Amino acid sequence: MSKKPVIAVGRKLPKAVEARLKRDYDARLNAEDRLYSTDEWLALLQGADGALPCHSEIFSAEVVARLPESVRIIANYSVGYDHVDTAACKSRGIVVTNTPDVLSDATAEIAMLCLFGAARRASEGDRMVRDGRWKVWSPDFMVGVQITGKRIGIVGMGRVGLVMAARARAFDMEVHYYNRNRLSEDQEKALGATYHASLDSLLPAVDVVSLHCPTTPETRGLMNADRFRQMRDGAILVNTARGALIDEAALIGALKSGKLFAAGLDVFNTEPGGNPALAELDNIFMLPHIGSATFDTRDAMGYRALDNLDAFFAGKEPRDRVA
Ligand code: DGY
Repeated sequence: MSKKPVIAVGRKLPKAVEARLKRDYDARLNAEDRLYSTDEWLALLQGADGALPCHSEIFSAEVVARLPESVRIIANYSVGYDHVDTAACKSRGIVVTNTPDVLSDATAEIAMLCLFGAARRASEGDRMVRDGRWKVWSPDFMVGVQITGKRIGIVGMGRVGLVMAARARAFDMEVHYYNRNRLSEDQEKALGATYHASLDSLLPAVDVVSLHCPTTPETRGLMNADRFRQMRDGAILVNTARGALIDEAALIGALKSGKLFAAGLDVFNTEPGGNPALAELDNIFMLPHIGSATFDTRDAMGYRALDNLDAFFAGKEPRDRVA
């Protein structure tokens, strides 16, 4: 029997995923789910044929340069791969894959939660009841923004953006979007979606802006003070994609001034941890990067990463190759 490929695994994965990993690979698991330092992670990768990291394991150009020759594939347990320097991997002939599709529903669910949490002041209300500070009720109390029938602007109409658009339609929202590529006429028709060729056109046209694009050099800091100025007064910002898309200081300014009514955020510039300055504001609904954190989706992400490894070690092209 030929030797099983050795796979270094970044974090603790769901039971069923680890069972399949152990069956088919010589898996170096992280039973304690510790966040490895770069040196520990590189030590674990010594002699490994592949890596199965999450977005918490950073493969910068410097880390990639220090990878042992044996590592031939990085099969990410994530759809986002901004934590991997794909150019550096390419130049070393290391294959990189991700896990698209399987987390679109779960992430769109969290985006809807962030949207409603922001619009209906969920953090403020929850804390008030928990802390025993709920002393009054009146027609003027905890009034928020009604979402039904409003206009949503989706930035990045990829897999998650499309699901978000469909969910928004269930609340009679009018869908507007900005994306590098325009949808087909049929897709636009099905979603009743209006295309904007630029953010300059999209931002002033919508009541809610929801970010669903990856972090790239072009999108880093995309939502800055100028962009917030372009948004409608009292608009809502939702981000379930990557924290790096937002200039958080500018967002705080827009929230404090009342330019924006609220924000719903699942991702931050600094993770884990978030931003204490954001936490001071009542008009932010925040979650700790849990867009894909459902039992179903976490299993599905693992199976997808394993399918990519299986294909690679069978000499085939992995379905989700990104580099
Ligand atoms: C993803 O898959 O990119 C999620 O953000 C979790 O890493």
